[in-house]
Amino acid sequence: MARIIGILSGKGGVGKTTTVANLGTALASQYKKNVIIVDCNITTSHLSLYLGMYYSPVTLNQVLNGKAKIQEAIYDYHVPGLRVIPASLSLKDLRGVDVSRLTRVITKLSDEADIVLLDGAPGMGREAMSTMRASDEVLFISTPFVPSTMDIIKCHQVALEMGTKPLGILLNMVGKERYELTLEEVEQLSELSVITTVPMDKNVLRSLALKTPVVSFDPNSPASKAFLELAGKLIGEKYVPDSFMKRFMRLLGLARKK
Ligand SMILES: Nc1ncnc2c1ncn2[C@@H]1O[C@H](COP(=O)(O)OP(=O)(O)O)[C@@H](O)[C@H]1O
Ligand SMILES: [Mg+2]
Repeated sequence: MARIIGILSGKGGVGKTTTVANLGTALASQYKKNVIIVDCNITTSHLSLYLGMYYSPVTLNQVLNGKAKIQEAIYDYHVPGLRVIPASLSLKDLRGVDVSRLTRVITKLSDEADIVLLDGAPGMGREAMSTMRASDEVLFISTPFVPSTMDIIKCHQVALEMGTKPLGILLNMVGKERYELTLEEVEQLSELSVITTVPMDKNVLRSLALKTPVVSFDPNSPASKAFLELAGKLIGEKYVPDSFMKRFMRLLGLARKK
């Protein structure tokens, strides 16, 4: 039975898609899990763009408008163990999409993977709520600022009403500036625990330009370490970074790629 984890936030642009791409890659490459990541942000789909997948003949859109089976929309990514269900990048493919089918469709992935990560839409509209409903557990993404933290409060309440288990908050883009909320302030405001902090890291933006998750692009960057540690925490395993020698060998192309 796959664990189905929704990645959600009240506010947009806080790092949901970045988290899905990196957690998925980390769980598959570092911890050898069988993972499917799904773009449930149908109206503004980005996940495939983050992975350099520009053309997918069948997407979640066709599944949600009844024209295809979910299994037909699953694509292998070049990281062994990681597969992707993209949403369409085309406006015309929004026609006939019924997001209320999402739970039924996602349930069909139960026997296909160890972990399914759902990349949600921001806010509390139908798209985001369908993702919440389709999830067994939910990881909230926030930044260390009042608006994104306040929005999590409402999302948390809805999760509890729906019976979706909140895993806590991933506090992203942390710069440790004086004007940012502290971790304790975020926890007090949201009544949730911050299970990890991911620093503001230019390598995330560099990796985006190369359409590669940062954990593959630069596994030793500060953001990568946070994602790799979080992936371990989610499955109860400890992250053991590669030794200097192994990193050096990999640099020379003498060690096996993960
Ligand atoms: N830790 C980080 N450091 C720097 N930039 C980040 C970080 N996390 C995300 N970003 C950037 O912020 C932008 C929004 O992230 P994204 O994952 O698309 O947010 P969402 O899916 O919540 O809308 C992207 O350009 C992404 O590369
Ligand atoms: Mg997104």
